[in-house]
Formats: sequence, C-alpha cells, structure tokens
Amino acid sequence: MLNYLSDLMSALFVGDSKNSAMSLTQDAAFVELKRHVEASEKDVQLLDWFQKDPSRFEKFTRHFKTPDGDFLFDFSKNRITDESFQLLMKLAKSRGVEESRDAMFSAEKINFTENRAVLHVALRNRANRPILVDGKDVMPDVNRVLAHMKEFCNEIISGQWTGYTGKKITDVVNIGIGGSDLGPLMVTESLKNYQIGPNVHFVSNVDGTHVAEVTKKLNAETTLFIIASKTFTTQETITNAETAKEWFLSKAGDPAAVAKHFVALSTNVPKAVEFGIDEKNMFEFWDWVGGRYSLWSAIGLSIAVHIGFENYEKLLDGAFAVDEHFVNTPLEQNQNVFLQIPVILAMIGVLYNNVYGAETHALLPYDQYMHRFAAYFQQGDMESNGKFVTRHGTRVDYSTGPIVWGEPGTNGQHAFYQLIHQGTRLIPADFIAPVRTLNPIRNGLHHQILLANFLAQSEALMKGKTAAVAEEELKASGMSAESIAKILPHKVFEGNKPTTSIVLPIVTPFTLGSLIAFYEHKIFVQGIIWDICSFDQWGVELGKQLAKVIQPELASADKVTTHDASTNGLIAFIKNNNA
Ligand code: F6P
Repeated sequence: MLNYLSDLMSALFVGDSKNSAMSLTQDAAFVELKRHVEASEKDVQLLDWFQKDPSRFEKFTRHFKTPDGDFLFDFSKNRITDESFQLLMKLAKSRGVEESRDAMFSAEKINFTENRAVLHVALRNRANRPILVDGKDVMPDVNRVLAHMKEFCNEIISGQWTGYTGKKITDVVNIGIGGSDLGPLMVTESLKNYQIGPNVHFVSNVDGTHVAEVTKKLNAETTLFIIASKTFTTQETITNAETAKEWFLSKAGDPAAVAKHFVALSTNVPKAVEFGIDEKNMFEFWDWVGGRYSLWSAIGLSIAVHIGFENYEKLLDGAFAVDEHFVNTPLEQNQNVFLQIPVILAMIGVLYNNVYGAETHALLPYDQYMHRFAAYFQQGDMESNGKFVTRHGTRVDYSTGPIVWGEPGTNGQHAFYQLIHQGTRLIPADFIAPVRTLNPIRNGLHHQILLANFLAQSEALMKGKTAAVAEEELKASGMSAESIAKILPHKVFEGNKPTTSIVLPIVTPFTLGSLIAFYEHKIFVQGIIWDICSFDQWGVELGKQLAKVIQPELASADKVTTHDASTNGLIAFIKNNNA
C-alpha cells in the first residue's frame, strides 16, 4: 500500500518541475499563444501567408528517412506562422513534454490511476536496451515471447502445425475487441499485400451475427482460433470464444482436439488455462502494455501469422525508428528550428482544439489497404484523451481530446467532404498517401487519379473559391444574370481550411509501423499538454457494470422497475415483443 501511494505521488508529479500542474488556460505560454493568434492570425488567409513567404513550404515541411524511402510531412497548409509555431513549441516546453517523454521511456508509473508503467515502446525496443520495471529488466521476457511467436508463425506457415485431422491451417480467427481487435485488424488489412500465411478473420462484436457469419465460411479442420484478451475477462470476447469452442467441438467432437485449434494472448494466464487453453499455447504480455497500444505485443500474433514473422519484425523496426526520433530529437535545435514530428503534429492539434475551438479531427488515408486506419486511431486517440479531469483530479476548463473520424479517400469525398468544404465547422484534417502503389494496374492510372485527388482536395480546402471566380465560371457557361444571382452564394467556397499532408513512400511493414508510432506519440504529447492521464479508460466501465445488471433482468419474466422510466420502458418493450 505504501509503495503504491509513493508510486502514485511520484507519477502524479512527473513533469511538475514545469507548469503541468497549472491549468493549461493559466499557463503563460498558452495565454501568449492565444493572445497572439487572436490578435494577428485568426483572420488571415492561409494563401496570403504563402504569397508573403516564398519559403513557407520548406519551412514547414519535415522529412523522415526509412529504408523504404522518405516520409514527407507538409504542415504548411496549417494556420501557423513563424510566431505561432514558436509559441506552440514554447508551450510544449512549458508543459514538460520532454520530461514526460523521458518518464515514459524510463518506465516510471505514469499510468498512476492503475499504478502501471506505459511501455509499448519496450515491445519494439529493437536495440534491446534494458528497461527496468520495479527493478527488473523487461527485455528478456519481451524477447522470450517474440521467440515463441516466431516459432509458432513458422510452424503455422510451413504447415508443420496441423489441425486435428492432420491438415495445414488455412484460416485464423482473432477473437478480441477494442485494442485486442482494432490494431491486428487495421494492420492485417493494411499489409494484406504481404500475406504469406493463412487468411485472418476477426470476430469482435458480441452480436452473435459476427461469429455466426465468420464461422459459416470456415472448415474446423483447418481453422485456428486466437483468443486475444489482455484481461481474459471481457464479456464479448469470452462469450465469442466459448461460442467458437462450441462450434469447433460440434465439428471435431473430441475435446482433446481443442489444444491444436485454440491459442490465447493475454496477461492473465490462469484465466486462459481455466478456459481450456494449453499453457504451451499461451502468448503472454504484461500490465504495462495498454490495450490500444498492444499490437506490438503478443496481440500482434494474427498479424505475424498473416504476413510472416520477418515482416512483423519490420513493423516493430518502423515504430522503433520513430521512438528513436522522439527520444533523441530535442524540441528545439539551433534556435527556433523544430524537428520533432510527433510534437509538431500534437501542437498543431492543440492549436485547433484549444485556440480555434475545433471539435473534431479527420484522418483521411488515400490508400484502400488503410481503410481501418481512422477506426483504429478513433480508439487510440479517444480512449486515451477522452478525459475531463486533470492528473491532479480537478475538472479541466478547456477542451481535451478531439472526436477522431475518417474514411479513405476518394470514398470520403463523395460522402462527407461537402461539410468540410462548405459547412460551418472548422475540421482540421490529415491527408495521408503513399507515393507508390502496391497495385500499379493500368500503368499506374488508378494511382495517378488517386494522388491527383489527394492533392486537389487539400488545395481546394485551402484556396476555396471566391464569388468573383465563381461568377466568371457561371458567365462562361452561358448562364443568365438572373440565374447567376440566385445560384452564386451556393458556389462560393470560403477556403482557409487547414490540412496536414503526410506522404509516405509506399505502404510497407516498416513505413506502417512508423506511421502508427508517429500518431501514438502525438496522442501522448497532447495528453501532457492537457495534463490528463492518457493511459486508463475508466469511462468504459460504467456501461459494462450496468449491462451486467440488465442481462438477468432481460432473462427473467418479472416486470423491471429498478431503473429510470426510459430504461424500464425500453426493457418492457423488448420483453413484450420478444415472443
Ligand atoms: O474498451 C475498453 C477496453 O478495456 C480496451 O481498452 C481494451 O482494448 C478492450 O476493452 C479489450 O480488453 P481486453 O483485451 O482485456 O479483452
């Protein structure tokens, strides 16, 4: 207990040598930023800044080298100037970003509400530098589980591991939810082109339709289930796992066959064993791995099986390269030169969130393989920074995490871009695209069209279209003056909508690993600026507790009166109509 309290106190005060104990809105660096932006920048058009400063593009772009080619981050279409950029970096310093980063990497228990270190970076610590948690180096355990994963992947892919009738495994089903689903799902989809192992399917929703539809297509003899759950107590996952076991046994008959067809990924070995998993087929991880940061742990097994262990290691390498950038690049180099890419991403987000009052942030990958990228970071960002209480337990008086959403381009263009272009809200957006495609069909025509749209959208969002230009166009089309007068206001685009363009060389395991890590660290930095605990997720607990109360009430014939009138009424309606 005493240890817990002292850990808690030290975690609470990490970075407090700086101003993080102070409310963001009272931090002198924030006040200065806000004043400056409101007085001198808020009403300026982005295009004017480009016209005034021919070096704007060079000034606000950053490169990141990888073995698969360079990334380019173009921040120049954001509402930043030399002054506001410097003030944002001053704010990052004032909030203690560097000290907090160092605290995370040195395994301090910065997740103080759960008394845990936050160490997904240890899972991809490719330099194998010792990282001590409670005085014990975690790297031997990390390496032991990686070696186990490698051995397992090789056996599955080579066909050495066979099902109960001696056949090779052709299909793997990952059963998990939240972080135990979204990461493996997003990455296996993004890296589909690198598949060398079995097909991978995902069952997450407790709606029986999910497991029913997935198993419908499968042959029990050649299917392997991966039960992915950090706690091994999550209702949805355990229910789906039991259903999968029932389905499997209805085909295989012999319970002894389960060992060849079910493996578990968890921090909770006893619970997995209780479920019937052979301890040899357990892939362990640790409480210092957050669910939404767990694809780098044993939770990544379905990825490794699908693309092969070597490719999985490249994913880790890509993330590690960004960790090194995050740790080794100081916030400021040679007077006002800022190279910290995750910090720049984060601080530009803070500018929109806390100075411009933006409520959402769109992630728009122009790559069909990355179609679950926004969904993945919806959890990554919103579960991390969806908090209303500071680390010191007081209610914040400013906005914290944005609503994160998005779809791949060009599909999104035909769905919701209208609102970004001509709606009333400010919606900062990240446009993400690879220079080279993995499918250069028709001589690259598709990719050329895709990239033309990627470039056109951010240009259109910034430039907009004035009434004068719209009028000229309408006149040129031969429209009458009367019709022009009616339609003209609808043809105007106000423009000045901010975007960041992230161009990656090509989608590979390495570049994807890097991209994910950039966003992870962006989320971390924003949590520090907002002085919140980005590592717990108590907000999902209340609903879980109430569902446990309601489930037996739905099953019983008795009238339910224990809730509010609305909930009682809904329960009654469902029960009365469920005959
Ligand atoms: O949604 C809450 C949550 O705890 C997530 O953080 C986590 O990723 C998910 O549930 C699944 O939890 P588990 O891996 O323990 O089944």
